[in-house]
Amino acid sequence: MCGIIGYTGKNQAMPVIVKGLETLEYRGYDSAGIALDKKEKFSVIKSEGKLENLIRKIESADVSSTAGIGHTRWATHGKPTETNAHPHTSENGMFCVVHNGIIENASVIKNELVKKGYSFVSETDTEVIPQLLSYHYDGNMLEAMRKTFMSFEGSFAVAVMCKDESDVIYAAKKQSPLIVGRGNGENLLASDVSALADKAETFAYLEDGEFAVVRKDSVEFYDMCLNHVTKNFEKNETQHAENTKGGFEHYMLKEIFEQPEKIRNLIKDKIKNGKIFLDEIAGLSLEIAKAEKLYIVACGSAYHAAMAGKYALEEFCRIPAEVDIASEFRYRNPPIDEKTLVVVISQSGETADTIAAMRLANSKGAFVTGIVNVLPSTIANECDYVIATKAGREVAVATTKGYTTQVVALYMLALHMASVRKTLSDKELEFYAEKIKEIPAQIETVLADCEKFEKFAGKYTDKNNIFFIGRNTDFAAASEGALKLKEISYINCTALPAGELKHGTIALVENGTPVIALCCNERLYKKTMSNIEEVVSRGAEIFLIRKETISHKLNCSEIVIPECIDIFSPVSEVIPLQLFAYFVAKKKGCNIDMPKNLAKSVTVE
Ligand code: AGP
Repeated sequence: MCGIIGYTGKNQAMPVIVKGLETLEYRGYDSAGIALDKKEKFSVIKSEGKLENLIRKIESADVSSTAGIGHTRWATHGKPTETNAHPHTSENGMFCVVHNGIIENASVIKNELVKKGYSFVSETDTEVIPQLLSYHYDGNMLEAMRKTFMSFEGSFAVAVMCKDESDVIYAAKKQSPLIVGRGNGENLLASDVSALADKAETFAYLEDGEFAVVRKDSVEFYDMCLNHVTKNFEKNETQHAENTKGGFEHYMLKEIFEQPEKIRNLIKDKIKNGKIFLDEIAGLSLEIAKAEKLYIVACGSAYHAAMAGKYALEEFCRIPAEVDIASEFRYRNPPIDEKTLVVVISQSGETADTIAAMRLANSKGAFVTGIVNVLPSTIANECDYVIATKAGREVAVATTKGYTTQVVALYMLALHMASVRKTLSDKELEFYAEKIKEIPAQIETVLADCEKFEKFAGKYTDKNNIFFIGRNTDFAAASEGALKLKEISYINCTALPAGELKHGTIALVENGTPVIALCCNERLYKKTMSNIEEVVSRGAEIFLIRKETISHKLNCSEIVIPECIDIFSPVSEVIPLQLFAYFVAKKKGCNIDMPKNLAKSVTVE
């Protein structure tokens, strides 16, 4: 996902913009650029690849200026080249723009402008923004902004500089996130709060259809009809500690080790008198009591969290819990009525498909609960109810603490709903609440064996295909483990329900095929053992993740996790898979925190 930073104020702009872009790197990108306001013109510097390439160019340029904009681009339209990198300027040099999102009707507008004599240099949709601004501009900047952004379909978070107005940055927002930060004699724009860091004392989110005019000593907001809008600014409490690796080699490893503390922080003061009660959804009790259907909708790892939570929700609440991928849910016209509950899960709160799924459910009359880490965010702001996962800022693109806190939040939701629906006795509620409290210690036990994974990892760096298998809750964990390894080591990984292998995929198993088998579900592990024997008899090499209470006769490498109840096992059994993925990627020399082609939050379809 692209990153935007803008600065205007009493200090030099370039250092603030570069620092902001460094903070936004985690979002994923493949080119970067900066534009500085030089009064009579803009100084635009762009580069392919990582920020270091841009910084090298900046070092030999005249970058003195007190206003500027910067951008990290995650390519959607046009290759990740220097020409396609942002900022983009209008042909007449009047406007300079950075953009996050997709202008879906860009080609139509581009063709119209070409007919009017405009020429374009890039393959991007973004370039129509400065060009259309110059077409509408007659000296009134706000009017030109209104006419330009009214004509766009799709999504945009945009920062614009106009040569006629020095030290002023205009902003427009629709679907993609954009924040205004207010400092002391300096003001900023950014894609997320972390990039404001120590410069902004307060911040406010732009809403869809709003404009902002950012000067060094003032910020004004307007709606699409150019009426003044008043915004409430929130105190900026970004913890700088979250912007550092804390002594770990990578953010991902730091965040893996943060999981016990983050889960303890999430569950503390939520378990009272042996019961889980979520005050955040106290107002939903009537709907929970009469609900006859539950959808859990998300993308990627958040979808895998939904898979893991489904077992607890169905078991404890005796309600069908349908798990769906947001990009599918939003286009299949799901049956939803007043007896349907919808839960959306998102670490970033800005995933475009999950936002669309939330809005579809809302439009059909469902009450939507969001399980979200980043607050405020679009999903957190628009859901009827929000359960915050409190994982803190997650920098690594491959989520770890974001995922496990989502799963634990779902377990607590399941117990809360069971309490409201009276589908569990007080004794059962107390038993399961106590089992949730045991999860952080179980994770710490696995983390203590961290060095073991470095030893195992070496065998897998040259593999091209790895299968992950498991049944029921083990399959949910296997799905997340496969994604983790795939997205940071670039090894093709497939997760399968263990019972499904014989229905086709087993044709691919031959001598030496690596299979990661998860056997942490006591009720079903004997069935999984049979499936393991099926692949072993065809030459597969097994790496077993099992619970200490499960015995076997296999001759294979294994990791043993501490005793935990089946229904909650996806949390502690995913820890070995996170560490395994980390060490394989490290041995392969991959960019662990910012894997190629990936973005931390996918704010486009
Ligand atoms: C997880 O490691 C990936 N980075 C990705 O699948 C992610 O979980 C997905 O894009 C959903 O993001 P969200 O939780 O911010 O909505």
